[in-house]
Amino acid sequence: MLDCQKSAFDLGDEVTYLNCAYLGPLSKRVQAAGREGLALKVQPWHVSTAHFFEPCARLRATFARLIGARHADDVAILPSVSYGLANAAANIPALPGKKRVVMLHEQFPSNYYCWARLARYRQWELVQVAPPRGAASVTQAWNEALLDAIDERTAVVAMSPAHWATGTAFDLKAVSEKVHRHGTIWVLDATQYLGAHPFDVETLAPDAVVAAGYKFLLGPYGMALGWYGERFHEGMPIEENWANRKNSDDFARLVDYQPEYRPRAQRFNVGEQSNFIAIPMMQAALEQVLEWGPERIQDYCRRLVAPWLDRLRAIGIGVEPAVWHLFGLHLPKGVDPEQLKERLAGQRISVSVRGASVRVAPHVYNTAQDMEHLVEVLQASLRATAPARD
Ligand SMILES: Cc1ncc(COP(=O)(O)O)c(C=O)c1O
Repeated sequence: MLDCQKSAFDLGDEVTYLNCAYLGPLSKRVQAAGREGLALKVQPWHVSTAHFFEPCARLRATFARLIGARHADDVAILPSVSYGLANAAANIPALPGKKRVVMLHEQFPSNYYCWARLARYRQWELVQVAPPRGAASVTQAWNEALLDAIDERTAVVAMSPAHWATGTAFDLKAVSEKVHRHGTIWVLDATQYLGAHPFDVETLAPDAVVAAGYKFLLGPYGMALGWYGERFHEGMPIEENWANRKNSDDFARLVDYQPEYRPRAQRFNVGEQSNFIAIPMMQAALEQVLEWGPERIQDYCRRLVAPWLDRLRAIGIGVEPAVWHLFGLHLPKGVDPEQLKERLAGQRISVSVRGASVRVAPHVYNTAQDMEHLVEVLQASLRATAPARD
């Protein structure tokens, strides 16, 4: 069982930070790795050929371990989710009878625009599965609607394991079974999931998984990691950079232009993947996450949040956490979420407003006092802002 890890960070006591789904903080270990990387390029003669390749290889292997992947070469270093998904969307073949892209309602834009473009280009239908209205359990009803939408016409399912705005979680095993039955390509944006929740790529067998590094992976901004399965290994990358070509570590022969890429998913690494500051930071962050363990992180968040659910409901807030590191608070009618967010900010509580709900995203640095502070300020704010209920 994991204890509170606040001492691993420099968060101070002024702000109640319940907003990892916005930006994960950098731990002391990650900061130190960044400083070392910075020092390296202060005197560039310290940067050797090995610095271009070895830290990247180590990072790929560490991410592979996090997601249970067998081949580190299936992992690519990316600058963003949109970049990683662009590589996937650019390599979706036209398959007979398949004319639909299925996704979730109000997906994060980086996992929308690339599919909208593909659908426009191919004249396919974009199906955005919304949560059915008035269902007793949103999670169950939305899952059922998603599974119903996947059939023999579905070329691609592009989704997230947990919805970025509300944390609604989807039954990945059931989706896996359905997409495999129909020969559908399955692409996951696991940004709001990996690191804080167990995930096994070999069991689920999606075709691609991409995640931003700067949230629950606790790494720097400007870096994402992607895993690409065999269906993409002969794909055409959206850019052609020298380092992705065979023998690119032989600096003396870079202009012996190579027709061949490095193996498997190595064609999808971004140009200048070897960022001497960000790569070691991401490495330190993933090692930290692996030491704590996604399962134990999820359990920590559960122990933090579960004791407060009854009290939240008692003050009129709807809450149905499907995962414990990210969940929405549905406010009573008449309460303006933006106004409430301002009140929370006035009490130095950092959460996000996404649509009609307040998104809360704890991590291992949060304490029971943080949750108590949130609930008390919510209670006082609702008393002050909500219209009388009877
Ligand atoms: C689900 C999800 N995907 C991706 C991103 C970031 O995308 P990108 O790396 O393209 O900026 C976010 C940011 O909030 C997100 O919530």
